[in-house]
Amino acid sequence: MKYIKEYIDRNKNRFIDELIELLKIPSISADSQFKNDVLNCAEIVAQSLKDAGANNVEVCPTAGYPIVYGDKIIDSVLPTVLVYGHYDVQPADPLDLWESGPFEPIIKSTDIHPDGAIFARGACDDKGQFYMHVKAFELMMKTDSLVCNIKFMIEGEEEVGSQNLAPFVKSNKKKLSCDAILISDTGIISNETPSITTGLKGLSYLEVEVTGPNRDLHSGLYGGAVANPINILCEMISSMKDEKNHITIPGFYKNVIELTKEEREEIARAPFSLKDYKDALELSDIHGEEGYTTMERTGIRPTLDVNGIWGGYIGEGAKTVIPSKAFAKISMRLVPNQSDKEITKLFTDYFKSIAPKSVSVKVTPHHGGEPYVSPTDIIAYKAASHAMKTTFGKEPVPVKAGGSIPIVALFEKELDVKSILLGFGLDSDAIHSPNEHYGLFNYLKGIETIPHFFLNFTKMFKSN
Ligand code: BES
Ligand code: MN
Ligand code: MN
Repeated sequence: MKYIKEYIDRNKNRFIDELIELLKIPSISADSQFKNDVLNCAEIVAQSLKDAGANNVEVCPTAGYPIVYGDKIIDSVLPTVLVYGHYDVQPADPLDLWESGPFEPIIKSTDIHPDGAIFARGACDDKGQFYMHVKAFELMMKTDSLVCNIKFMIEGEEEVGSQNLAPFVKSNKKKLSCDAILISDTGIISNETPSITTGLKGLSYLEVEVTGPNRDLHSGLYGGAVANPINILCEMISSMKDEKNHITIPGFYKNVIELTKEEREEIARAPFSLKDYKDALELSDIHGEEGYTTMERTGIRPTLDVNGIWGGYIGEGAKTVIPSKAFAKISMRLVPNQSDKEITKLFTDYFKSIAPKSVSVKVTPHHGGEPYVSPTDIIAYKAASHAMKTTFGKEPVPVKAGGSIPIVALFEKELDVKSILLGFGLDSDAIHSPNEHYGLFNYLKGIETIPHFFLNFTKMFKSN
């Protein structure tokens, strides 16, 4: 297997340069101002697949941004791996907190990445990670070591809920048929402790609007005599958790599977330092649901968070006003057996039921998605675990993530295939935040690990 490292050594500078070029494109799916950049990015991804040796490369139109497809079918009796990723990125705001331009990638070293990291929006989520697959594919093609069929599906709407991918998957089941789905869009515990994500959370995301008086009022003339929608909204939000930080929405935990003692011990075996965790976030203390560890709170417990809240006067100086309206964006992260549709309904009913008569409320659901669990006893997991063991020198730990990739549950439902979440990012890589970055070590380690996955998976598949 020496050829893998040798090929990477010979080509790593080019691999890095190509990723830097890709990161210069502001492919922000949420902001229509960047429409042409997103479309252009799809074309560049398609070209990169062609250059690496893929056939049938297509930029498939959808009602939104296109899905880039490409494949290399070497023999129909061999297994097929479908690689999924996304070329769209999150908005770069707040811009003034970036130390360098979000779309002017630069390499800097950090304490955690002494060998350097590329700083740019999308560096880790997910351009740097899906591009590892394009380069690993190139490596396998150029070294004549591709041992099974491969399909690529790289979408442009993950960060806005993958609305158009679901119908695409449903109507292209044959085209996407495969024996395993491989995704690098998650992380590892640290560069010394590899891990594989075995769970993703589901998501229910809503916006609420609370209306008091029919117009903004003088807060002296009317203050204390009518409902202030901001005050009321804050009270409603705070009443959605009790003193133990349990969520109070009736029925919210109804379908949540409580873990066994053994399963919780397994979670506790993953290395975790509360001190490092607090230090990294400059926190004096953590906060969360009573009776659960930090790893359990993020990995296996459902949560409810306000993502944004606004209303009233927020301009310069003071304005004495009782606003007519208050708003908030609220998300709930869900765990196995919770259905996003059901939770959205439970939230809506409860939110309306706790609103006092002095206001009226409106709840608008945004996107959602079901949670996902990846078993560790399937050959695709074993192939990934073995690949990481080879390249990191250590067996990876299975870890449940707090993040969501809602389309993964749909892949399972529609294509009847499990996904393996072989990500290489670190929690400290600041995805969705200013100064997002991706370690060069992680990028190159990913390119090295992926060919091992293909070799192991094909071997295990044949002897199964
Ligand atoms: N790649 C992330 C999800 C992720 C990151 C999962 C790290 C596990 C570990 C993905 O791009 C993402 O940001 N998902 C969104 C949901 C989506 C519907 C906007 C999320 O988790 O908030
Ligand atoms: Mn992502
Ligand atoms: Mn993301």
